[in-house]
Amino acid sequence: MQLFKAVATALALCAAFSAQARTLDEVKKDGKILIATEGQFAPFNFFNGTTLTGFEVETAELVAKKMGLTIQWKTLGFDALLTGLRQDRWDLVIASHGITEERAKAVTFTEPHYCSGGMIIAMDPAIKSAKDLAGKVVAVQTGTSYLENVQKVSSIKEMKNFPTDVDARSALNSRRVDVWVTDRFVAKAVAEKNPGAGFKLGDMLFIERIAAAVAKGNSSLAAGWNKALAEVMADGSYAALSKKYFNEDVRCT
Ligand code: ARG
Repeated sequence: MQLFKAVATALALCAAFSAQARTLDEVKKDGKILIATEGQFAPFNFFNGTTLTGFEVETAELVAKKMGLTIQWKTLGFDALLTGLRQDRWDLVIASHGITEERAKAVTFTEPHYCSGGMIIAMDPAIKSAKDLAGKVVAVQTGTSYLENVQKVSSIKEMKNFPTDVDARSALNSRRVDVWVTDRFVAKAVAEKNPGAGFKLGDMLFIERIAAAVAKGNSSLAAGWNKALAEVMADGSYAALSKKYFNEDVRCT
């Protein structure tokens, strides 16, 4: 009995570790694609009550529909998303990931679904550009490209990381930090929704191309996604969605 259990456990472990990313054909045969996102990054991926929505959630819905698939969504902490891809726990991640060299070593990025960048937000209107970060305490979400880029600004006093971008924003709002660095469209939306809060939008610290990701080397699924994405970008549905959320077209040009 003991031995049987040990063997069974070993087999289960082998199966877990040898799990293969599902190819486009396999996903199509199933009819369902399992997509992971965070759900805490409005207006891109967030919960409206109990409903997951946002620009990239709706973009993914358009893309999946073109692929003839329905989406099964999974939401979890930003930090866990790419790791889970590597363990083939879901087929695709869409959570505003900027394409970076470091990440591209671990996952395969699709074509970008929007272009943006990290913006400086402060309460003090004198803090606008990278040089104004000297001696300041800056809030960023853990695991993000904001963290990576703020780290390069050697003159800052301290960088504080937060598990969600919402926490980083709260830190600025309650003046526990001097600066918050986040996506420019996130910043714009927050400033517009809270006109009395005193958020001052500064310069962009860097720009980035934002894309979905599949498991490293899952080229069939990436190609299927890219083809469908190109179609929704050509048929006006992406443009309409972008206009609804941002009043402008946010695709990379
Ligand atoms: N664009 C940034 C990055 O690539 C932030 C993404 C944050 N996404 C999120 N769902 N909180 O790291």
